[in-house]
Amino acid sequence: MALIVLASASGSPGVTTTALGLALVWHRPVILVDADPVGGSALLAGYFQGTVCDDDAMVTLVLARRDGRLADVLPQTLITIPGSHVSILPGPKSHAQAGSLSELWAALAYELRALEQTGQDVIVDAGRLGMVHSPQGLIRAANLSLLLTRTDLPALAAARQWASEWTEAAQDGTGAASVATLLVGAGRPYDAAEVAKVLAIPVLESLAWDPRSARVFSEGQKPSGGAWSQRDLLVRSYRAAAAAINQRVTADRLAVSPGGSR
Ligand SMILES: Nc1ncnc2c1ncn2[C@@H]1O[C@H](COP(=O)(O)OP(=O)(O)OP(=O)(O)O)[C@@H](O)[C@H]1O
Ligand SMILES: [Mg+2]
Repeated sequence: MALIVLASASGSPGVTTTALGLALVWHRPVILVDADPVGGSALLAGYFQGTVCDDDAMVTLVLARRDGRLADVLPQTLITIPGSHVSILPGPKSHAQAGSLSELWAALAYELRALEQTGQDVIVDAGRLGMVHSPQGLIRAANLSLLLTRTDLPALAAARQWASEWTEAAQDGTGAASVATLLVGAGRPYDAAEVAKVLAIPVLESLAWDPRSARVFSEGQKPSGGAWSQRDLLVRSYRAAAAAINQRVTADRLAVSPGGSR
């Protein structure tokens, strides 16, 4: 269905955790792209606790692009999460490496969007906005870019400038087709309506505030029953967010062309 980007404006509101959570409850096969320019794959170190080996996918893809073989090589760089329909594209190994990827992200965006025809969606962890080497090529190509934020004043002050920049970029065609925010911990202290007013972009969904369950996804902690449960409050909020994302992308497409493209 789509290329969805998640990013933050400040702090660590839960982009990586949420991107993984959304992917795990996604309704069809999905590729989770780690494009955080900080490097060092929080996902492999966190959820996988360093047990999964990464053969430096970024180097492989840079070389493949140079040889015009990006589409062929991309599937070989993906790591499948066992028992799931989620494949992971491990990101830059270091911030220095991220500096050489700006052209790759743009080319990759094209290939990733083409995957839609094979029934796969893409969720991107773009890390914190404003970083040197941010994956602009992916952010620009997104069907929907989601600004993750907590709801305290410092978080909203930082998010506000990006909400405004993203909205302008969506309007003048230089950014994602559509933008919205996902709240982590609405009501701590501001609620969704208050945040929407301050940021002047829609709040797509509010994710549950649940530090214990979040650590299952962010640190690979074993949940009490041995596996995360669809009944967890946090997992239910991931499902609600996934449904809202799909609804939003579909509605945007119908608005652009009643036939339903872009
Ligand atoms: N819904 C949530 N409720 C409570 N805590 C959460 C939630 N989501 C994530 N967290 C916690 O927030 C912390 C930061 O999460 P995460 O690393 O995903 O943030 P991030 O935005 O990717 O940060 P960074 O910018 O450093 O990459 C982790 O300890 C994680 O467990
Ligand atoms: Mg992160």
